[in-house]
Amino acid sequence: MSCSYSSKRAAGIFLLRNNEKKKTTMMMKMMRDFEASASSPTLTKSHSCRFYSSPAKNESASSSSSSLQHHFEKELPVDFEKKGTGGRSSYSGITAAVFGSTGFLGRYVVNHLAKNGSRVLVPTRCSENHRQHLKPMGDLGQIVQFDYSMRDDEAIKYAVERANVVINMVGREWETRNFSFEDVHRDFPRRLAEACKESSSVKRLIHVSALGADVNAKSKYYRTKAEGDEEVRRIFPRATIVKPAKLIGVEDRFLNVFAEHASKFPFVPLTGLGESKHQPVSVDDVAIAISQMPYDEETVGKEYVLAGEKTFTMEELAKLTVDAGRFRSARVAYIPKFVYKLLSAPHEFLLNRVPFPLPTPKGLTRSFVDAQDADYVKKPNELGFKELGMTPAKMDGITIDYLRSYRSGGYLTNPLAKKENFHEEARVPLR
Ligand SMILES: NC(=O)c1ccc[n+]([C@@H]2O[C@H](COP(=O)([O-])OP(=O)(O)OC[C@H]3O[C@@H](n4cnc5c(N)ncnc54)[C@H](OP(=O)(O)O)[C@@H]3O)[C@@H](O)[C@H]2O)c1
Repeated sequence: MSCSYSSKRAAGIFLLRNNEKKKTTMMMKMMRDFEASASSPTLTKSHSCRFYSSPAKNESASSSSSSLQHHFEKELPVDFEKKGTGGRSSYSGITAAVFGSTGFLGRYVVNHLAKNGSRVLVPTRCSENHRQHLKPMGDLGQIVQFDYSMRDDEAIKYAVERANVVINMVGREWETRNFSFEDVHRDFPRRLAEACKESSSVKRLIHVSALGADVNAKSKYYRTKAEGDEEVRRIFPRATIVKPAKLIGVEDRFLNVFAEHASKFPFVPLTGLGESKHQPVSVDDVAIAISQMPYDEETVGKEYVLAGEKTFTMEELAKLTVDAGRFRSARVAYIPKFVYKLLSAPHEFLLNRVPFPLPTPKGLTRSFVDAQDADYVKKPNELGFKELGMTPAKMDGITIDYLRSYRSGGYLTNPLAKKENFHEEARVPLR
């Protein structure tokens, strides 16, 4: 009995050890494959882009009534080795290091990359809880998360050297105790561009700036964004710079702010007369454009301004939000700019003078108030969605999708069922 027990135990231990050994060998092989394919993507010109074929060749795509035709006009040269049919479980040939993936735009970009079978390296500075939603976007093991700090050159290199595409979406609309606008918008893009330049694997760098970035802008946010763009262009001339207009979506910090105010207060405060002009754009459209760029050699070294087709003033947007949310009692209130500046002054003054972090006054910073003096409209000569073969979604029809949760009984009544509210063309298609 004891003999059979000990022999069984020995056999068990042997099996366990054998399994462990197998597992380790498999893991080492996977790591080797991963590193090899990331660091030395083979050039196979015969591989053509299968994910975004021309609608002429794709009946179902061309028959779609969607206003968004996310395709390129022609078959594009793909520089990367691809495996499989182009779905989630295949390999697109792209191993992308995505910085700023935990942000509003970042999660959409990761989703679009991952669902086409790209490997996505996700350097973050947050806890597992704040980044775990990214994992299921890709196939098992395709979303690789690790910690980094934007001041740690080694950590930046670690990510960059394992990727053939690098996407930077790091940005912040306010300064914090630890990070100034210069740190986030100028110095980090410079470090990243330098790491890309030194890396032998990186073929594409896509840097996300903002419509309105200008070294002479009154707002520090836009000034530092422009400085960052210049650094990136100087160090990595092949970089593609993307300048989105104000992003709208379920989690936006634009229409949601109006809706928050309208739901809590009897008025929606506007800076000055709310005359600043914007061309809000769907976050998903921008994410699609960014995730397609690695396939298109024509986008190398260029700058794209991604803006919605219609121009609105801040006042119009505030009223549109009030209407969409059916906030019957809410009115738009025009607050003089100097009042805003007075309210933001204590935060500006105390930010780096007190030995603890201060709460973030979203929308109540000097930079935000200064930004209201300019218009954010795409110039006709700038490249945009059209050159990428895309038509952005119309905003009129999609705002209600984002703001429904603010409506009383918003999910119980379906306004889209009413004929007069049904904007078929403007609905965001399922992708
Ligand atoms: N949202 C818009 O309307 C809009 C319009 C035009 C341009 N843009 C630009 O588009 C990009 C993405 O915008 P977004 O709305 O997605 O921004 P977001 O939601 O604020 O996300 C920004 C990302 O940057 C990261 N980040 C910020 N400061 C950092 C720091 N000090 N160290 C490490 N990571 C840091 C954030 O990480 P944590 O999650 O850890 O904070 C987050 O992943 C930004 O460059 C933004 O300036 C945005």
